[in-house]
Amino acid sequence: MKALVLSGGSGTRLRPLSYSLPKQLLPIANRPILEYALDAIQRLGVTEIGIVIGTPDSEIPASIGDGSRWDTPITYIHQDRPGGLAHAVRTAQPFLGSDDFVMYLGDNVMPSGLEQIATEFGRWRPSAQLAAHKVPDPGNFGVVELDEKRRVVRLVEKPSDPRSDLALIGVYFFTPAIHEAIASIRPSARGELEITDAVQWLLEQGRTVRVVEYDGYWKDAGQPDDLLECNRRLLSDLSSDIAGTVDAASRIGPQVVIEAGARIERSRVEGPAIIGTGTVIEDSHIGPYTAIGRDCVLRRSRVADSILLDRVSVVQVSALYGSLIGRRASIVGGTGAEAGHRLLVGDDAAIEVAA
Ligand code: G1P
Repeated sequence: MKALVLSGGSGTRLRPLSYSLPKQLLPIANRPILEYALDAIQRLGVTEIGIVIGTPDSEIPASIGDGSRWDTPITYIHQDRPGGLAHAVRTAQPFLGSDDFVMYLGDNVMPSGLEQIATEFGRWRPSAQLAAHKVPDPGNFGVVELDEKRRVVRLVEKPSDPRSDLALIGVYFFTPAIHEAIASIRPSARGELEITDAVQWLLEQGRTVRVVEYDGYWKDAGQPDDLLECNRRLLSDLSSDIAGTVDAASRIGPQVVIEAGARIERSRVEGPAIIGTGTVIEDSHIGPYTAIGRDCVLRRSRVADSILLDRVSVVQVSALYGSLIGRRASIVGGTGAEAGHRLLVGDDAAIEVAA
């Protein structure tokens, strides 16, 4: 079996961060989201992984590499436009050939793994094995409707009037029958080839489509609050590891990782929290639920429940909570006599300031 990981798409709901970095490379607990996906896929023992990327100059190949970290060769496949999930599969058809494959949406986070779904596919080998999870807002997802025997009756992509609260998780197992289905469907109203329409076509042809209700943690990390929630969830599994330097005046709580080359002085780090290599923290209080990337500088500041990417500086900021800060951003408090805030903010940024 092969794996196809979809990492194209424009990440509009994660702007401005996604302007300069594919959303699948945004870090959760200091690792790109995509690496968690590859960990889960590797555990299934697939023979090859194809990653669909949106632009030829995407940072994904440089960040993820050739697959040697996962002992599985990775091929990068360029999708020339964001034409939908089924369009991505069609683009990858030469790579997939006539193999069964697992398709994984690269922004989905499922730390407890895919084994439950893989086992169902292996047992029955339906044309499509789907996974679903109950959500409070099914209209934001593909929705599965079941009959009283829990057989799949209908799939609808982002319905305005959902008839079920079972959202499709971004993991699908397919036999090559899906290629025939994709060749038979037409673009949806939003102009995309939808994978839900392809699976619906399989159903209408009388092919077997099964769904399993996935009981582990699952999050589509498509929006800033989802990233912060995943960060809290993954940090809560952290085991302490202090490889960096901590002076005698600092206090480090349980569940804290301080990577080699980080330096903590006169500060308190409350777990769960992770501090990246090369980062310097002075006279500050960090955490809980905070992930700070590499080569950041934090001085005289209070930061909690946040994700800071690499090379961020935060100086004299009395309270930074629930924040997502992009690479090389600088946030400095109490700088001058003028009352008020002075901002240099990129397109589509979102800022909430204390009154
Ligand atoms: C996609 C699928 C949707 C599925 C969701 C899961 O939506 O189209 O059916 O429920 O992923 O993450 P998207 O997140 O691309 O809007």
